Amino acid sequence: MKRKLPEELRSHRWYGAKDLRSFGHRSRTAQMGYDRADYLGKPVIAILNTWSDINPCHSHFKLRVEEVKRGVWQAGGFPVEMPAITLSEPFQKPSTMMYRNMLAMEAEELLRSYPADGCVLMGGCDKTTPGLLMGAISMGLPAIFMPAGPMLRGNWQGKTLGSGSDVWKYWAELRAGNITEADWRGVEDGIARSPGHCMTMGTASTMTSAVETLGLSLPGAASIPAADSNHARMASLSGRRIVDMVWEDLKPTDILTVASFDNAITTVLALGGSTNAIIHLIAMARRAGIPLTLERFDEISKTTPVIADLRPSGRFLMEDFYYAGGLPALLARITDLLDTNTLSVTGKTLGENISGAVSHNDEVIRTRDKPLVPAGGLAVLHGNLAPDGAIIKPAAMEEHLLKHTGRAVVFESYNDMSARIDDPALDVDADSVLVLRNAGPRGAPGMPEWGQLPIPKKLLQQGVRDMVRISDARMSGTSYGACVLHVAPESFVGGPLALVKTGDLIELDVPGRRISLKIDDAEMMRRKRQWVTPAPKFSRGYGALFSKHITQANDGCDFDFLEGTGPTADPEIH
Ligand code: FES
Repeated sequence: MKRKLPEELRSHRWYGAKDLRSFGHRSRTAQMGYDRADYLGKPVIAILNTWSDINPCHSHFKLRVEEVKRGVWQAGGFPVEMPAITLSEPFQKPSTMMYRNMLAMEAEELLRSYPADGCVLMGGCDKTTPGLLMGAISMGLPAIFMPAGPMLRGNWQGKTLGSGSDVWKYWAELRAGNITEADWRGVEDGIARSPGHCMTMGTASTMTSAVETLGLSLPGAASIPAADSNHARMASLSGRRIVDMVWEDLKPTDILTVASFDNAITTVLALGGSTNAIIHLIAMARRAGIPLTLERFDEISKTTPVIADLRPSGRFLMEDFYYAGGLPALLARITDLLDTNTLSVTGKTLGENISGAVSHNDEVIRTRDKPLVPAGGLAVLHGNLAPDGAIIKPAAMEEHLLKHTGRAVVFESYNDMSARIDDPALDVDADSVLVLRNAGPRGAPGMPEWGQLPIPKKLLQQGVRDMVRISDARMSGTSYGACVLHVAPESFVGGPLALVKTGDLIELDVPGRRISLKIDDAEMMRRKRQWVTPAPKFSRGYGALFSKHITQANDGCDFDFLEGTGPTADPEIH
């Protein structure tokens, strides 16, 4: 394999030249305590660290970054830590999704504007993974993703607690009067008890697993719990490996192909993963010049079984998954559904990376003859209510709702829903279809995870635990229920969801992949003519940029000026 020469390093233009400006770069590096021998002729590795006091999922990153640096030094590189905006799922409002593209832009521009030859991306909390990678893909330097790793299992009174899913479960029990305030406090204190991201198969675990299958993390990395000492070793190995990747000039675009994205989709489906992955994978693929569409998810879903018995679809948590062999063991069970010739950051193929991986627990990683769901864990819907598509997760809903017609109960906004959902006078029954609009990319804004609309209290008390719900929002990967999500176009831009009236009949037909508003075309047109474009949400700042350029869910919610663009020129070094 041809290896780069030191003079061919991108950073050579900052450090190696004999001119006034490079004098400045070297003298300022000396100011930080480094000798020429520490960096000259060595790959400069930017470590993009999304650590922050406000992100509990990354609370171990202060330690991990030192372990990444250790690996970089050992392999003969020069590590440079660069903080990047954190996207802390529990705290950032209205939604981390609003800021995913900001992180993507920051990652790309940090790498472009500084003397980076390659990068280690430290993320894991939901949107940090796609955000960092979208930027790194566009920049096109060698990159390796170091996943934060899941937190340990939650515990309350000896019961295992899962991130997100048990919050919704016990919140419903509290509202139904089945547990006390003291019980609720016990759940609060026991559900998140170590560093690391959510440990259900939510968006974080789904995306880090998808990225590992894409070939952008070390094999097995995504499944290691954050608190496990193997996680620290993985961090250091990531630092070591990126240095060689620079010499080999192994870039994300050498790794990402149509086949590697098909593999990632297959993985997401076999894991029973988060619906958020659809938006992120479409955005990432398009950054790599691969025109991925919603339809590909539906096609692959039809032949992919869910074999990971993980919450929210199944019973176990990421810690159990790791002990069962983790992602390599799962992939080894579905090799016939994968293209094992795709390349990875190791320089080896997916097939080579997972060779010899075995499952140690057939309950957690099911055998192919005993899948959790035989196929169709995800469905893409179309119809007059969602001309550009919508999605649903049949594996996580009550079966009797797969084909269902009911009366719409419409909420104009999240606040409207919060104000009325538990009103005893609300005209709603178990067959009703709850509709939430103005919750999409532009309307909310930021497409928050509001898609799992709460069941009205009076129905909860009657024992109802699932209903058909429709919105242009997303849903947390740890949620469940008959929730039609990502309706496109969204209501705020005049999509048909904006035209539904309370009392209209809505038909959901998951086997037929349809979502229909039962009014005729003439009535639809009449309502459309009466629809008034809402006032813009922002007149200035990032919000205005976001509102102007965000694409719809079926297009990945990237900014229109970032997707599909060619390489941007490196800066002139003056
Ligand atoms: Fe960070 Fe769930 S809150 S991954």
